[in-house]
Amino acid sequence: MNAYESCCMQEVTGETLRPGGFELTKKAVRFCSLDKEDNVLDLGCGRGATIEYLWREHLIRATGVDLSQKLLKIAKEKNPLSKFVFAKGDSLPFDNNSFECVFAECTLSLMDHLQETLKEAHRVLSNDGWFVITDVYAKNPEAIDELTNFSITSCVRGLHQLPLLEEKLEKMGFEIILVEDHSHFLKELMVKIIFSHGSMSAFWSKTMSGEKTQTCCSFEKTLQQCKPGYFMILARKKGGKNG
Ligand SMILES: C[S@@+](CC[C@H](N)C(=O)[O-])C[C@H]1O[C@@H](n2cnc3c(N)ncnc32)[C@H](O)[C@@H]1O
Repeated sequence: MNAYESCCMQEVTGETLRPGGFELTKKAVRFCSLDKEDNVLDLGCGRGATIEYLWREHLIRATGVDLSQKLLKIAKEKNPLSKFVFAKGDSLPFDNNSFECVFAECTLSLMDHLQETLKEAHRVLSNDGWFVITDVYAKNPEAIDELTNFSITSCVRGLHQLPLLEEKLEKMGFEIILVEDHSHFLKELMVKIIFSHGSMSAFWSKTMSGEKTQTCCSFEKTLQQCKPGYFMILARKKGGKNG
């Protein structure tokens, strides 16, 4: 099951299925000087919250991509004039250089094929186009591999190792312009979850339907060892012939 389709998830995160709501979206729009002329892609658009925000606040019309038909239907109902496409991040049905900006808000950590997804984001971006990434990372990556033993569909199962992600982006042809820690947003979300569900394990039990309580507790324990944090990276596709 896609945990992001569960009502438990939306109850704690709101319309945006990520920590921090629109704070980092707003910061990225300003930093990258995006305007209504720009073509924007929202990779893993979920319920279409960012698409709605970009239109409402900036008159930017964005295209959404997701692999959940259920979430795409909700997104489309909320944004009837926007384009939504059912596709995977590692195989985007768009021409080269089609977008001035790609948002990946708490989605790269869920992608099965990160390298291919980065390649696709790079391909569909125009030269000097912006790649806005917000996501979860491990401050202590020692136990990171153990997380993959659990079958939960949650971004925290795919915590990034920040230096590795930066290296991959640079090798792919991106210039990293900004890297910021925003772990307080993840902490706020966890506090909210504990208030409404009693504990993180209880929350995992509800979103990981079918999993034993013991599995949820050991997932939570492994996660704690990794010391999860939240970051924002703003990167630019290098221009020029070899960019
Ligand atoms: C944490 S939610 C974030 C949704 C949205 N960006 C937001 O912040 O509200 C992750 C989203 O990525 C989607 N997703 C997961 N794997 C994907 C993939 N390989 N390709 C496209 N979308 C994917 C999920 O269905 C879900 O909607």
